Amino acid sequence: MSRIAIQDLKRWKQESRRWVCLTSYDAPSARVLAAAEVPVVLVGDSLGNVILGHGSTVPVTMDDMVRHTAAVRRGAPDLFVVGDMPFLAAQISDEEAVRNAGRLIQEGGADAVKLEGGGPRASTVRRIVEAGIPVMGHLGLTPQNATQLGGYRVQGGDPQDALRISEDARALEEAGAFAIVLECVPVELAAAITRAATVPIIGIGAGPDVDAQVLVYHDLVGWSGDFKPRFVRRYARVEETMIEAVRSFQQDVAQGDFPSESESFGDSQASTPVENSAVEVLPDDLEPEQERQTSG
Ligand code: KIV
Repeated sequence: MSRIAIQDLKRWKQESRRWVCLTSYDAPSARVLAAAEVPVVLVGDSLGNVILGHGSTVPVTMDDMVRHTAAVRRGAPDLFVVGDMPFLAAQISDEEAVRNAGRLIQEGGADAVKLEGGGPRASTVRRIVEAGIPVMGHLGLTPQNATQLGGYRVQGGDPQDALRISEDARALEEAGAFAIVLECVPVELAAAITRAATVPIIGIGAGPDVDAQVLVYHDLVGWSGDFKPRFVRRYARVEETMIEAVRSFQQDVAQGDFPSESESFGDSQASTPVENSAVEVLPDDLEPEQERQTSG
């Protein structure tokens, strides 16, 4: 898949073509998203919760984001990658915001950056866009200031809040944002903002009437423990599969079934290149007879 352009996203909105964005934080998951031809990959600061084991996104630093964005770029050289601006990366001054956004592009290899916040962030968005860096906005439930919002709660439920979020969307669009993530808002509000906006609205917990859907990759593939918010649909149970695989390995070692002859080197294989020399056989693929031979 060739790398999409921002103009493609605008056209897809006009054509009512729906698309997806998924998070990725490392090269192997980026490779999966590339193989599945996901058009937009977000290296979210959800990195903090999903990968680094924090309870929120607040501890994530610019260095974390640059390192993981670069890993995603290496795993998916052709995908459109958005790097997230972590807590305080865009809040201290516009100058610092431009410099930090520039790091995600120059050092991380991102195509664009995302930053949380509405009206008060509009001037910052404008400055980054003027520096030549595409910006994705993020409204509704913005995890970096979840404490101010009263926790991880649906936003825009009362008319005043709904109006504020709608005005923020307009302000971000006017400031030059090429797309806006709308997180955890009622379906009706998301639909109204999507109709009014000329840039794509990417929903997460925002119902079906938006231009695109974003999910955290680990939630989608079932690799996030017991965490399962209402807006997540699990398409696989990879965590269970991985636990099973590790258990089987332990069992094989304990029983002396691993490694087999075909998984070991004999004298005649001295100097054989190690890489890609495996005969890949999953235990489930083996007939009982073959299994005995392989493990013999
Ligand atoms: O950090 C993140 O992963 C995000 C998405 C959930 C939109 O902001």
